[in-house]
Amino acid sequence: MRVTEAPFFTALVRMCDDARREGWHECHGGNLSCRLGATEITAVSEDLSRTGDWNPIGVRVPGLAGDVLLITAAGQVFRNTARDPAKSLGIIEVSEDGARYRVLWGFGGGGRPTSELPAHLANHEVIKRRSGGRLRMVYHAHPDNLIALSFILPLDEVVFTRELWEMMPECAMIFPAGIGIVPWMVPGTPQIAAATMEKIEEFDIVLWAQHGVFAVGEGPDACFGLVETAEKAASILIRVLSCVPAKRQAPGAQDLRDMAEVFRLPLKERFLQSRRD
Ligand code: 13P
Ligand code: ZN
Repeated sequence: MRVTEAPFFTALVRMCDDARREGWHECHGGNLSCRLGATEITAVSEDLSRTGDWNPIGVRVPGLAGDVLLITAAGQVFRNTARDPAKSLGIIEVSEDGARYRVLWGFGGGGRPTSELPAHLANHEVIKRRSGGRLRMVYHAHPDNLIALSFILPLDEVVFTRELWEMMPECAMIFPAGIGIVPWMVPGTPQIAAATMEKIEEFDIVLWAQHGVFAVGEGPDACFGLVETAEKAASILIRVLSCVPAKRQAPGAQDLRDMAEVFRLPLKERFLQSRRD
């Protein structure tokens, strides 16, 4: 089978298109990657070439030795993903020492993987270990309301988590572990990769202050849904804060505890404690 016909490939192209329609991917902003399963790799093996040069990743990911991932290209314009998928995406293989990668397919016209490759691979290594291989997708987007909140709220995980959870019940259901925060850092560096990786041990979604979000999940639906839910909550909060200096009423800690009990949500008590309760 050709890569462009494979279900894992068409699902990622669809996600790129859906997400940029949401306004989360101006120009080339954001990137995504999916670690492929053995059956998916075998299905497209006729289309893969293992003769490319090995390039440094910038971080060491021995936990991904020999793994194969589909990933967006650096500078790829999201509007063009569906029209030119073989230029916008590529498939890479991680070397046995976990320090290098080579291109097996795609990145047409001399392209290369996203500048956030170190963050993608470092986080894949964490989620692969954390989930026993179940989590295979890493997603970075630039959703405006979450970014806007990083200028307004203190960069405190308890404050952010609690504010978002309060906006609608879905939030605690979709990200029961809360939201992690990484302060502003230079994009594309091993430093931002390391800081995010530390947070992904605990959270499925991490805010990059004044930049965007990093989300992990089983696949495109989980990652898209996670960002969609957090971003909707952020948009409601921005509307509320635009109308009144302080909320007149909001669900309290006990309301969230009650919901956690009914829906068996592992909400951490540290996110339920706040000055207001
Ligand atoms: P790339 O075009 O290299 O993927 O970079 C976009 C981005 O959002 C960097 O943080
Ligand atoms: Zn970015």
